[in-house]
Amino acid sequence: MKRYHVTTFGCQMNEHDSERMKGMLESLGYVEAAEREDADLILFNTCSIREAADNRFIAHLGTAKRLKSERPDRVVGVGGCWAQSVKDEVFERFPFVDVAFGPGQVHKLAEFLTSDSLTAQGYFEFEGFAGDLPEKRAREFQGWLQISVGCNMVCSYCIVPSTRGREVSRPLAALVAEVERMAADGVTEVTLLGQNVNAYGRDLPRRGEPAANFAELLSAVDAVDGIERIRYTSPHPQDMKEDVIRAHAELPALCEHVHLPLQSGSSRVLKAMRRTYTRERYLDRVALLREHVPDVALTTDIIVGFPGETEEDFAQTLFVCEQVAYDGAFTFVFSPRRGTEAATLPDQVPHPVKVERMERLVEVIQRRARERAQRFVGRTLEVLVEGPSRTDPTKLRGRSRHNKAVNFTGLAQPGEYVQVEIASATSQTLAGEESLLARAAR
Ligand code: 5AD
Ligand code: SF4
Repeated sequence: MKRYHVTTFGCQMNEHDSERMKGMLESLGYVEAAEREDADLILFNTCSIREAADNRFIAHLGTAKRLKSERPDRVVGVGGCWAQSVKDEVFERFPFVDVAFGPGQVHKLAEFLTSDSLTAQGYFEFEGFAGDLPEKRAREFQGWLQISVGCNMVCSYCIVPSTRGREVSRPLAALVAEVERMAADGVTEVTLLGQNVNAYGRDLPRRGEPAANFAELLSAVDAVDGIERIRYTSPHPQDMKEDVIRAHAELPALCEHVHLPLQSGSSRVLKAMRRTYTRERYLDRVALLREHVPDVALTTDIIVGFPGETEEDFAQTLFVCEQVAYDGAFTFVFSPRRGTEAATLPDQVPHPVKVERMERLVEVIQRRARERAQRFVGRTLEVLVEGPSRTDPTKLRGRSRHNKAVNFTGLAQPGEYVQVEIASATSQTLAGEESLLARAAR
């Protein structure tokens, strides 16, 4: 029996692609190896979003090179966004790699592995969704649903449009059928994935499928029996229309959490980023969300040190963060990416300035998140149990509908929904005790 090992870098899209790779390999008779050293097939699913992602992966490739030289019959494969961004160059730079493929070419891996000659090959076409592949879920009660591939936006800092191609939405009926299958398998929480989820469906009429938009998709998924929670990532503020916002108030399964990438609080910088919204428009979306769902949790992505960002621009980002009071944020130092417009812009911000701004930003984000989180103290929240707590194995860990990590004492099993009385809150996590009253009442 052949054994495989997959290392995944990057976003949830990649995690989902890796689950599909694993499912496909198991259907070919491979079994998963716990350690890379024990594998006959060593795979990397790569990311290229920032330079740090590239470097992390290249360090791992070093061990693959050693393992390959110890046993040359091992197969080394590199998939994902980094592979797509360098294409065949991967074989010149790393001659021990046997197969390389872009995102969406996962199915080609099977073709390669079952072909007679395993001479190095690369697959970098954009084909749209790579079809139904079996998947091996990390947790049986949580599933990903890829609603579209690719991205039609042209954010000037971002490598993704060049690694994942033009946007292609999957037909609504196929998505609903997939969610029904997941629910039948025991999935109760589904996360809709796409580079720009709320642009969903815009390309469908042209491709001969009946038109559908993101709000309609949400309501169709909500109607599937057994689905208790729906999440999605990531929406674009430009397409955050009232129908989607209303869906958060109206659909029982749609969670009270929106990840709404800000990137910058300065309209001038947003324009240079080609984000297609201004600071006012963004704040207006936030106000509308809070009007319909007052308790909504908001999280965001922010880039610090975009070329030309002045102290005044940065102060506006801080201002927006103070005003919105995010429940959490991913903060990134701008990293020039090959082939992107922003990499060639003048006025690149010196590294020490980026670092200093990042420190100030993190202080605001954490302080506001800590303050925001206090609203949960004293409340009883529904928590989906994921397993033992990471820091204290006598405790359990799960997530609230607001996507807050909750550590608590209780008797529950992974996959159960329990009521937790929240006793304290930090910027990142909530802590409490399972309500035994609620358990007894069930
Ligand atoms: N530099 C820094 N951060 C970036 N992101 C995307 N491209 C870059 C880049 N070149 C961030 C954005 C995006 C998140 C996934 O990664 O904030 O929303
Ligand atoms: Fe995901 Fe972007 Fe990284 Fe590709 S480059 S894996 S889309 S985060």
